[in-house]
Amino acid sequence: MAKTPKNPIKPDTRMVTSGRNPQAYHGYVNPPVYHASTLLYPTAEDQVAHRGRYQYGRRGTPTSEALEIALTELEGEGCAGVALLPSGLAAVAATLLATTGSGDHILVADSVYRPTRNFCEGVLKRMGVQTTYYDPLIGADIASLFKPNTRAVFVEAPGSQSFEMQDIPSIAKVAHDKGALVLMDNTWATPLYFRPLEKGVDLSIQAGTKYIGGHADVMFGCVAANAKMLPRLKDTVYTMGLCVGPDDMYLALRGLRTLSLRLARHYQSGLYIARWLEQRPEVLRVLHPALESDPGHKIWQRDFSGASGLFSIVLKPRSQTAVYTFMNELQLFGMGFSWGGFESLVILFDCTEYRTATKWAPGGPTLRFHIGLEDPEDLIADLERGFAVMQAAK
Ligand SMILES: Cc1ncc(COP(=O)(O)O)c(C=O)c1O
Repeated sequence: MAKTPKNPIKPDTRMVTSGRNPQAYHGYVNPPVYHASTLLYPTAEDQVAHRGRYQYGRRGTPTSEALEIALTELEGEGCAGVALLPSGLAAVAATLLATTGSGDHILVADSVYRPTRNFCEGVLKRMGVQTTYYDPLIGADIASLFKPNTRAVFVEAPGSQSFEMQDIPSIAKVAHDKGALVLMDNTWATPLYFRPLEKGVDLSIQAGTKYIGGHADVMFGCVAANAKMLPRLKDTVYTMGLCVGPDDMYLALRGLRTLSLRLARHYQSGLYIARWLEQRPEVLRVLHPALESDPGHKIWQRDFSGASGLFSIVLKPRSQTAVYTFMNELQLFGMGFSWGGFESLVILFDCTEYRTATKWAPGGPTLRFHIGLEDPEDLIADLERGFAVMQAAK
């Protein structure tokens, strides 16, 4: 630990102090990056007993320990510990494997990140786990979808690409009354803007590749657990041999130190540009829960303390050529999927083909934006030029 603060500290201070132990590293501020597989035991007695603070590279090093402590503190009350995974999707997979078994049934939001769905339809189905997809707006009515073997409900708010807000406390109450677990992908808000474990979620997933890393250069994921689920989670991750490379762990820890500052800027610029887009004649709708016009706004306002820089828009009907022309014209928006870095992004998406519990009919082409750390006025000027060229296209 850095010196133990004598007064109660706020989350921003905690993000600076957590997981640090300078005196253990000759006074240096950051922990060393341990490239480690083999750990040598000092005596035969220690080796036979596996005695010592660390036992094996995959089981943990001072680097992983620092990151785990920092992430646990970030998740806040109710978090008993975290498991580190090599990607966000690995964190989703480990969560589902830790909580389900042959003959179980799970409920998954229809708006979930698509590879999560693929995992349910592939690996889980082969294992004999059945999935029912539900309307993300269902709230407490989810009760009617439970079966005697329903083991878990998977939530993600807002929905991937489509940004529906879910009433997580209501869903969690029903799930717990029925004896089921609640699993959440909380990548969009991060624990800074939504604390799942304080709202009834048992296991909370972060694709650390996004905002925790924050610089488009690290693959990493984590799962935070309450006390009841932590042993099962840790055992699953350990038994599967999952671990994270030391440099990626270090980058994740470094990203964490500035998460609060970066996220505040993504939030502010994202909302500013979302409001600007709302006024544009080319735009039918902006899907962003922090906008007063958004159907999920009340839930967002009640449960979340901020928004990230990721949101979508529905354009008024346009030819594919016109939409491509718009995207190709943009200079400051890269066309890439993995968001949460410092740079702005845009992708064209379509949920029609894989939704099963809800119909996706937005009324026009849909684009997802990630608003980065650039000056928002420059981003607006870029979008303005893109729209002008789109107008001229067929
Ligand atoms: C909501 C969400 N969850 C999980 C993931 C998976 O993260 P990773 O790319 O680190 O596997 C993503 C990636 O886009 C995501 O958007």
